Amino acid sequence: MRDAGYYKERLAAEQLQQCYRLAPARVRQYLRAEVEFVVARLRPDDVVLDLGCGYGRTMPAFAGSSRWIVGTDNSLASLRLARQRLGAATYCSLLCADAKQLGFAAGSFDRVVCIQNGISAFHVDRRVLVREVVRVLRPRGMALFSTYSDRFWEDRLDWFERQSAAGLIGDIDRILTRDGVIVCKDGFTAGTVHEEEFRTLVANLDVELESFEVDDSSVFYLVSA
Ligand SMILES: C[S@@+](CC[C@H](N)C(=O)[O-])C[C@H]1O[C@@H](n2cnc3c(N)ncnc32)[C@H](O)[C@@H]1O
Repeated sequence: MRDAGYYKERLAAEQLQQCYRLAPARVRQYLRAEVEFVVARLRPDDVVLDLGCGYGRTMPAFAGSSRWIVGTDNSLASLRLARQRLGAATYCSLLCADAKQLGFAAGSFDRVVCIQNGISAFHVDRRVLVREVVRVLRPRGMALFSTYSDRFWEDRLDWFERQSAAGLIGDIDRILTRDGVIVCKDGFTAGTVHEEEFRTLVANLDVELESFEVDDSSVFYLVSA
């Protein structure tokens, strides 16, 4: 199975949830640090898009700090689990949408959140993805993308090895896995987006870019419209 179908067919819903459940303590710290970084940049009146929301892992935390949250993902199975987990919460909507063509009107969101390395995990043309995210941002809105820090490589690899041992992802190819890219023998890859690359993605857009390293584990690119 190649990258594009992986999250829909294999790493969806309970399988995706299992990846997070088996995260070791250092990875849990990284996941918490990412959420805290985003929450600190949400405002009570914000309408927020959680792009590639999966089974809604991060949505309750974001919802508590904003007015409305919309979660989109291209996996219906993950969205069904998100609906169950979020119950009858009225502060959020869930929609099935591909990240590169969101279908929202221009200027719909104050914040677009694309964390946990979504920019790499979506396996779409990154330039198209960033342009689409900027399109749905309101004037003075902000998009928050995150990828992994190189400093976190050993802990990240440890987490993926646990996922592989649990049969959630394929066997890790130990020869091809290097330089920020995890490669499985079944063709799955999980990359990293370095700042030079991210700068080229926004070069022709009328936006400002800031980057932050958080917790020695995550790198955030903040794109302000
Ligand atoms: C690494 S998981 C992160 C899930 C969630 N953001 C979290 O942190 O718990 C990546 C998510 O992106 C979704 N995804 C993959 N490709 C996508 C695409 N082209 N459009 C929208 N979502 C996509 C997957 O189904 C999966 O839920």
